Amino acid sequence: MESARHLSPDALPLFERASVAAASVLEPLAARDRHLFLLRLERYFQNLYDGLLPVYGRRPDYEAVVIRMVERMARQYVERPEPLKLLDIERDLTPDWFQRESMVGYVFYVARFAGTLRETLEHIDYVAALGVTYVHLMYVLRPRDGENDGGYAVADYRDVDPGLGTIDDLRLVCDAFREHGISVCIDLVLNHCADTHPWAVAATRGDARHQGYFYTFPDREMPDAYERTLPEVFPDFAPGNFTFVREMQRWVWTTFNAYQWDLDWSNPEVFLEIVDIMGYLANLGVEVFRMDAVAFLWKRLGTDCQNQSEVHDLLQALRACSKIATPAVAHKAEAIVSPSDLVHYFGTGRRYGKVANIAYHNSLMVQFWSALASRDTRLMTHALGAFPPTPPSIAWGCYARGHDDIGWAITDEDAAAVGISGYAHRQFLSDYYSGQFPGSHARGAVFQFNPQTLDRRISGSFASLVGLEAALEARDETLVTLAIERMLLGHALMAGFGGVPLIYMGDELGMRNDHGYLRDPDHATDNRWMHRPSMDWDAAARRALPGSVEARVYGGLQTILRARKRTPHLHATYPTRILEPHQSHVFATLRRHPLGPMVSLYNFSEAAQTVSLDLLEGRFPHQPYDQLEGRFLDVGAGEIVLGSYGRLWLV
Ligand code: GLC
Repeated sequence: MESARHLSPDALPLFERASVAAASVLEPLAARDRHLFLLRLERYFQNLYDGLLPVYGRRPDYEAVVIRMVERMARQYVERPEPLKLLDIERDLTPDWFQRESMVGYVFYVARFAGTLRETLEHIDYVAALGVTYVHLMYVLRPRDGENDGGYAVADYRDVDPGLGTIDDLRLVCDAFREHGISVCIDLVLNHCADTHPWAVAATRGDARHQGYFYTFPDREMPDAYERTLPEVFPDFAPGNFTFVREMQRWVWTTFNAYQWDLDWSNPEVFLEIVDIMGYLANLGVEVFRMDAVAFLWKRLGTDCQNQSEVHDLLQALRACSKIATPAVAHKAEAIVSPSDLVHYFGTGRRYGKVANIAYHNSLMVQFWSALASRDTRLMTHALGAFPPTPPSIAWGCYARGHDDIGWAITDEDAAAVGISGYAHRQFLSDYYSGQFPGSHARGAVFQFNPQTLDRRISGSFASLVGLEAALEARDETLVTLAIERMLLGHALMAGFGGVPLIYMGDELGMRNDHGYLRDPDHATDNRWMHRPSMDWDAAARRALPGSVEARVYGGLQTILRARKRTPHLHATYPTRILEPHQSHVFATLRRHPLGPMVSLYNFSEAAQTVSLDLLEGRFPHQPYDQLEGRFLDVGAGEIVLGSYGRLWLV
């Protein structure tokens, strides 16, 4: 192929063999479709090759593995339904689709939001009315029976949880959302599968091929060696990283719970299985994969076995697979790691922009909660200001709350830079959000106390953590207003940061903690369920009742999201710069856009604050206009005034 000249000399011969192999699989397709696939193969083959080489390149069967992989992708394309092939072309033409200011995400447990997949269809209008263009359905694939870590222990990646429906229902749901301009995202749990997954069952029975899918050890020698540098994810209910499986008489690597077996990605058969699964799910109409717990995919003795460079190679290769076979699909990385590790999930250096399309901005989330508790934005300004630049082709997933706990990912270095102790601040935050700190408005709970590090993560819903639960109980209207304003501050920050805002179910209404999980033996030990309530449709109905809490939160959020959609400055391709407001209660960002600058200001205290006009540095030749309130800003006094928890999006 003429244009294949961009391939490196070592990749070219393999590419040529792979295209011949693909062409024969593509035989049943029309000439134009065959051509399209081969064009995409050529375009992304180098990314695939460069991703796979460092991980599998030394194996004698390396080339055969790549050919098999390409054949499988070709088969996926042969099976791809026509409407999705059209969507592929659309996305080839609009690769920035997930970066647009119109993007708004909504995240929910299918069972808790609607009951079943089909019942979800009854609520599409509800979701659409909020302006949502992307829904993350949790969890969908069939998990193990009994305890399953909220669905994150998958027993079958090609089947739907029977309580939620069937594979056909999933297809139907994807089609229906797509018709409403809403993309469906589901979890792809890559680090582990359930101990009841057929791979694990076969391994338990002694099948050597499937034992090769996992890390198993005959004795404690290697587990002990690894444990010396491994942290613990669930120190409370799943201490240690290895589990002895009696039937197999071997230890298995289980980073999370004992029933979640880590997959051995150094075995290319695992990679091939996942490529097949991705194609299968993409062909049902799934448009975004949330790649779960990706930091853990590669293990290296003597390290914490997170964020190893092979993880980024593997993710680059998986990304290339989607780009070749199912290009409508985007990848979202869930790597809840420190700031310096996080940016690699977008690709840095030779992988620049080639790894994930979207990644959770865990630091933004943590800094939001930290500044809210301390009423002090200096740490936030410093930590986010020091963030390395990101490629222009990506988007942050911006979220205040999700289904998981909050871990205080604040480094000692960042804390020291603003003159505080990292350890003491993290302890303060745990005290504050678990309601132990005097004067705290929060009603959270400690999740996973780690006796070694004394770390305490936090569970609790957005509304309960900002004080709404306590305020309503106290029937104190002033406190209720403050709590609602804190929520809207968070919603505005996430919608205005310049990534995809991800709204967690119930947070559009101010839904509080739900302690019902304590009655369910499969959930009772995991207090993350306190912020995974069932949707309160009565509360949803109250959003139409003027003056109700629900109407105030929902109406406030709707105003923010509408403003977002008419603010082109929020397209994710433009970088977010953190401004230094010289004011310890205000957080400020700048986005430079060809239309002009956008300066956003957020007041993290209950008292009104002023900011000097100098912050705008003459960026606005005319009076700035606040996109949120839809009015010109009064700057007569030479200062900008922000009310209690006030926010401004100035353009
Ligand atoms: C991710 C999920 C979390 C789960 C873990 C293990 O972090 O968000 O809920 O416990 O992965 O799969």
